Amino acid sequence: MQEQDTYYLNEICTQNALYTQQTGRKKKCLTHTFGCQMNERDSEILFGFLAQMGYEKTDIEAEADLVLFNTCCIREKAESKVLSHLGELKKLKQKNPDMIIGVCGCMMQQKGMADMIRSSAPYVDLIFGTHNLHHFPKYLYDVYQGKGRQIEVLDKEEGVQEGLPSYREYPFKALVNIVYGCNNFCTYCIVPYVRGRERSRKQADIVQEVKQLVADGVVEITLLGQNVNSYGLDLQDGTTFAGLLQELDQIEGLRRIRYMTSHPKDLTEELVKTIAESSKVVDHFHLPVQSGSSRVLDLMNRRYTKEHYLHLIDMIRKYMPDAAISTDIIVGFPGETEEDFLETIDLVQKVKFDSAFTFVYSKRTGTPAARMEDPTSLEEKKERLQRLNDALSDISRDINDKLQDTVVEVLVEGPSKTNEAMLSGRTTTNKTVIFAGEPSLIGQIVSVKITEAQTWILKGALAE
Ligand code: 5AD
Ligand code: SF4
Repeated sequence: MQEQDTYYLNEICTQNALYTQQTGRKKKCLTHTFGCQMNERDSEILFGFLAQMGYEKTDIEAEADLVLFNTCCIREKAESKVLSHLGELKKLKQKNPDMIIGVCGCMMQQKGMADMIRSSAPYVDLIFGTHNLHHFPKYLYDVYQGKGRQIEVLDKEEGVQEGLPSYREYPFKALVNIVYGCNNFCTYCIVPYVRGRERSRKQADIVQEVKQLVADGVVEITLLGQNVNSYGLDLQDGTTFAGLLQELDQIEGLRRIRYMTSHPKDLTEELVKTIAESSKVVDHFHLPVQSGSSRVLDLMNRRYTKEHYLHLIDMIRKYMPDAAISTDIIVGFPGETEEDFLETIDLVQKVKFDSAFTFVYSKRTGTPAARMEDPTSLEEKKERLQRLNDALSDISRDINDKLQDTVVEVLVEGPSKTNEAMLSGRTTTNKTVIFAGEPSLIGQIVSVKITEAQTWILKGALAE
């Protein structure tokens, strides 16, 4: 953490302590996080700052002294959600003019977006981007000093920041960044424009962070990068993702290593072998395919073909026959024909994915795909999405049915979202299992016998 940021952090901490002395209450904060795990991790850092400044977390907007929106712009829907929610806050701010509202994250890095918020939402006090998240204490300090609205978005990334504070959501599992940014420029994707070029953290820093997490009770880590397979290449010192996994695998007390996301063009046999030979790296590959048509993959600039992807799947099954495989798929990419779409269905049938995140293509201004001819109607695209989802759920159901009566290892994560009286956890293959048990099991890895297989979840009972 930079010295000046520490200074501002300490100053706000002192002011807040004084406020608590005078009023008998602690200031409260709330963060709305949109988008992916990268953003979730960034919000943990923002909360880390806020906790050190003496703020208390609240889930109730009306009682918050500070509300932060950590935004996402991957699809239009993510953006409209932010804008409509932000509009609702206007009324709250009218009732409580001292409330501070901040907007940060990927959406702010988009050309013109910060200016749009600046003029259309004058009640927003703070605007910053992903590259200068670590300067948050300074911006907040300046607002408190009466210097008016603080708006700063940097065009370029500022390297890798180490030693930032962090508020971890769970005591037993943790997100760990390993590489920031993306160099791939898939033609539909906004990420390389808002997250900058690939920057890897030093292996020693990652290992040290994970050792500390394990010492604090963490048993599962998820390594984060837009393309974890290219981790280390920019360091040009021989660091590789496979090497990192091998070293993390040695950490005593750590039970599971997850990672997100793998780009198929960089998945090597060496890496699959490393994963197969490791004792802690999970039996789950999330390998976004995006389309089953080699023609569309070329237009997407994915740099692999349908055949190569199927070859990778064979390779994974050769070394790890029981591994689960999940994916991301976009339907309705500009110019996708019915024949192209049928290639996607064919690939899905051949691979037999355990699960998939599926999306209708969303036009992102500034990307090459936004300039491509797109004659297919939204209605037709939605209809394709439905057909794809039907195919995927049939396959998932078949795979899950085979788990009936087997015993699986589950990391217990907490009460089930749909039934508070039950526990919910995940297998190494990333399947959700719901079962009855004491809350004291949360954070532990337990054996569960599957009693009822459903399409997207498994139900079970604690095994003897
Ligand atoms: N439209 C639809 N889906 C997109 N994704 C990325 N950009 C777009 C877009 N413009 C999907 C991809 C990616 C996932 C994180 O989001 O499938 O893997
Ligand atoms: Fe976007 Fe492609 Fe980079 Fe993934 S690899 S973040 S889809 S540009």
